[in-house]
This record gives sequence, C-alpha cells and structure tokens, in this order.
Amino acid sequence: MKNILITGGAGFIGSHVVRLFLNSYPNYNIINLDLLTYAGNLENLKDIQNYDNYTFIKEDICNLDLMKTIFEKHQIDGVIHLAAESHVDRSILDPFSFAKTNIIGTLSLLQAAKEFWKDDFKNKLFYHVSTDEVYGTLSDSGYFTEKTSYDPHSPYSASKASSDHFVRSFYDTYGLPITISNCSNNYGSHQFPEKLIPLFINNICNNKKLPVYGEGNNVRDWLFVEDHAKAIDVIFHKGRIGETYNIGGFNEWKNIDLIKLIIKTVDKHLGRSEGTSNELITYVKDRAGHDYRYAIDSSKLNSELGWKPSLQFEEGIEKTVTWYLENKAWVENITSGSYQEYYAEMYEK
Ligand code: NAD
Ligand code: DAU
Repeated sequence: MKNILITGGAGFIGSHVVRLFLNSYPNYNIINLDLLTYAGNLENLKDIQNYDNYTFIKEDICNLDLMKTIFEKHQIDGVIHLAAESHVDRSILDPFSFAKTNIIGTLSLLQAAKEFWKDDFKNKLFYHVSTDEVYGTLSDSGYFTEKTSYDPHSPYSASKASSDHFVRSFYDTYGLPITISNCSNNYGSHQFPEKLIPLFINNICNNKKLPVYGEGNNVRDWLFVEDHAKAIDVIFHKGRIGETYNIGGFNEWKNIDLIKLIIKTVDKHLGRSEGTSNELITYVKDRAGHDYRYAIDSSKLNSELGWKPSLQFEEGIEKTVTWYLENKAWVENITSGSYQEYYAEMYEK
C-alpha cells in the first residue's frame, strides 16, 4: 500500500497517527482528511505540514460523492479511519451529530472504498478505529475481550457500535478487507480540554473547580496516546484481515485516584505545596448513563502481533502535564470562542 487516507488526522489521536506514519514511512503518501470541527486543529501538525508526502484535505466524511472523488484522485489503497464525534457528554447534548458523523460518515467511506477498489481487494485495507465503550460496562471484575457482546449505553458508544457493525457487514457481504481495533481511554498531548485529564490540568492551572461526576468511583483503563498510535501501526501492517484487536494498557484507575494524581503532579509543577488544589474538587451530578468500569484485555494484540504499552502511567502523566504547561498558547487558542459556550452549558447551568 502506498496512498494512505487517514481521516480525523487533525484531532487528538489522529494527529499522533499522522506524525508516526510520516516519520516511519517516507515512501507512503499520507492524505489527511478532516473537517476541522471544534476538535480538529491544524496546529497539532505544524511540525510535519511541509512534508512532500503529506496532503491535507478539509472535507466532511459524510459527503459520499466527495469521498469517491478523493479515492479516485489520490488512488487510495489504505484507509485508517479515525474521524468521529468523540466526546460522550456532547453526545448526550446532541445525539444526531454523532449518528451523522459516526454512522453515515463511516458508511460513506466504506462505500467509496468498495466502489473505487471495484472488488479488486488485493493489497487494500480499510482499518476502522473504534472504542472499548461499545462493550458497555463491567462490574468490579472481568475484562472486555474481542468476544464480549456489544452493549453500548451512550449515544456516542451506540453510534460507534453501529459504525463497527457497518464495517463488519462490508467484510461479510462484499469481502471488503477490513480490520477494527477497540481501544480504552487515551491521554497525552494535544487532547481537547473537554476530556477528563486535559480539562482538569487546565482547571487546576486556572484555579477553577474540578467537576467530579457522581462519587468519582468510576474506573477507566488509561493508555498513552503514542502507544495507541504504535498499536494502530502494528495492526495496520500485520493485523489479520477481518479481525478485531482490543488495545489497552492494563492500567485501571478509579477517577478520584487519578484526579488526585493529576492534582499532585500539576501542583508540583506550579510550585504549590502538595495537595493545595484538592480544595478545587467538586462533586457534581453524575453523567447520565455513566458506565461504571472499562477494562481491556489486549492479550490477543500482544500474543499475535507483539504490541505492548511502552510507558508507566506516572511517567505518561508527568509528560502530559509538562506538555500542557509548556503549550499554554495551544490551550488558550482552542478554549476561546465556542469552548466557553460549551463549558457554560455543561458545567455552569
Ligand atoms: P477527536 O475528537 O480529538 O478528533 C476527531 C477528529 O475528527 C477531529 O479532528 C475532527 O475535526 C474530525 N471530524 C469530526 N467530524 C468529521 C467529519 N464529519 N468529517 C471529517 N472529519 C471529522 O477524537 P479522538 O479522541 O482523537 O478520537 C479519534 C478516534 O478514536 C475516534 O474514532 C474515537 O471514537 C476513537 N477512540 C478515541 C479514544 C479516546 O480516548 N480519545 C479511545 C478509543 C477510541
Ligand atoms: O474508553 C474510550 C473512550 O474514552 C473514548 O471512546 C472516548 O472518545 C473518550 O472520550 C473517552 O470516554 P470517557 O467518557 O471515558 O472519557 P472522559 O474523559 O469524558 O471521562 C473519563 C471519566 O471521567 C468518566 O468516568 C467521566 C469522568 N468525568 C469526565 C469529565 C469530562 C468527570 O468526572 N468529570 C468531567 O468533567
């Protein structure tokens, strides 16, 4: 494969994938297609924007005719599909935009790939990036495996589950070569500060309240975003066609414990005495339909393809906090304007 279409490449995970592929595979042409919604930001890719083998296209994945044109024009033979509406809280406020982008958008790309590849699927691949949230929620024990039944609870996870089903249906029905991965919570640089970790780092810096949903007992399994990008690389190149791979760090944290670790790390960097910002913790109404626990069993990916996470969590959090403190202008740029309206709607009503 040579001409690789990466969708959502201006977002959090997508920008790490674009960078990794450009730096690892100088022989590939990387076409980054992104609508630049509030979550997409070309500043994430400033360091690579002038590479000769990089093309950026601002377009909507829901536009089927345009997707067909892009496949034809760029002779696409591989797709890594990350573009999505990705934030659970926003899906509760506006489920329709999630259905449109995540379901219709994915379907448009599948159809464009199928028509352009015209049933000659040799050396072609449609790789769909999905989430562990499709599996629903766990009690205090057990893990999501690739065989766990789908049981989504939020409009976001329902739309991702639907997109996964469409991807598999194109494999079963038309033989389109696909792979799917389902990953746990990512953290790291360039994440939009609506998600827990960057939101709380930013709020601690600005002495703003830290809104903890419910009692803070929900559990998430955290993975450093660059490790996710490496897993995507391995699955894209070595994964078996038609297979699903779970990606996770075997790194579970109860929200309140994670929040205290973030507070400790940020306070240290700001020269505040340990625990100063604990007073910002504010317990608020729980998220509707809040899944209790996610925990991924990624042993298939490890045993088949040799991938494992590279970073210890404390080290990853240290790197992440450092990045946010050194890139205040990035945060300020994206938290001006419509971010303020979203913040008021979510947290100040
Ligand atoms: P993000 O919200 O940071 O980025 C999404 C990108 O998609 C943005 O650049 C946005 O502009 C683009 N986009 C949105 N709608 C579009 C459209 N109609 N056409 C073209 N581009 C569009 O999301 P993220 O956190 O980087 O997640 C990327 C993918 O990984 C998503 O599919 C998400 O479901 C999945 N995922 C995320 C996580 C996580 O923890 N963040 C974990 C597992 C899986
Ligand atoms: O599991 C993978 C998923 O992880 C991805 O598919 C999603 O795209 C990504 O957004 C993420 O979903 P979560 O809902 O788990 O992430 P979020 O950062 O929104 O929340 C993490 C936990 O923190 C969750 O239990 C809710 C809680 N939370 C979140 C926010 C934003 C709070 O307590 N307060 C908050 O203000």
